[in-house]
Amino acid sequence: MSDGSKPNISWEPGEVPMSEEFQDTFYSRNDGRAEAAYVFLGGNGFPERFAEQDGFVIAELGFGTGLNFLETWRQWISVRQPGQHLSFVSFELLPIGAEDMARALECWRELAGLSDALLERWREAGQGDVPGFDRTRQWQMDWQTQLRVVVGDACEEVSRWNGAADAWFLDGFSPAKNPDMWRAELMTRVFERTVPGGSFATYSAAGWVRRNLMAAGFEIAKRPGYGGKREMMAGVKTRRA
Ligand SMILES: C[S@@+](CC[C@H](N)C(=O)[O-])C[C@H]1O[C@@H](n2cnc3c(N)ncnc32)[C@H](O)[C@@H]1O
Repeated sequence: MSDGSKPNISWEPGEVPMSEEFQDTFYSRNDGRAEAAYVFLGGNGFPERFAEQDGFVIAELGFGTGLNFLETWRQWISVRQPGQHLSFVSFELLPIGAEDMARALECWRELAGLSDALLERWREAGQGDVPGFDRTRQWQMDWQTQLRVVVGDACEEVSRWNGAADAWFLDGFSPAKNPDMWRAELMTRVFERTVPGGSFATYSAAGWVRRNLMAAGFEIAKRPGYGGKREMMAGVKTRRA
């Protein structure tokens, strides 16, 4: 188990990080970056949707290695217009150690420069490798991109958050391994903190998670899942909600 300051990680073939606490991998064993692009960005209508507004707030449950953020940042850089702004807010219980983050991110060549920028900030925040860190951090990653990592239990911290997201990435390990991250109360908080017309996406298609999201108020669509998974879910908060 963890010493309380950072998660315990073991490594699967292909340098895929596995949480010892939750007994689940941080992302697909079959190309986590492509999964991030398909499930979380594609499921929320990005990158096409980036053309629609001057500013976006994307919120995430579970920052993990930062892979979802980095793939988002990469796509955002390739399509954004001068004057547009992206704010990415992620809720994370137990920030990963810097050396684990470096090991996980090393294989994504497409993200190399961006990973280095994140790692530099992560190392500073965590005093070297040893701990993650235990309070909220905010960084200006470039002049159009802000990253905020809120440390603590997602349900409590989302309740406290006074922002609202255009899109949510629901990425809290599988519902079977970590039911807390999918419980009804949290899904309701997520819905409340979604702008009208906003969306969510997740790899999960579990029936009880779908019911929690529907009860919260989202309109749900099932889609083909990533990497051989039959289904995933995406949804919207309709403008009249
Ligand atoms: C599947 S991983 C996220 C992967 C990540 N998005 C990435 O790009 O690498 C799930 C994350 O949820 C975090 N987590 C688990 N329970 C949590 C809770 N109750 N509140 C906040 N974060 C939690 C874990 O520490 C882990 O980092």
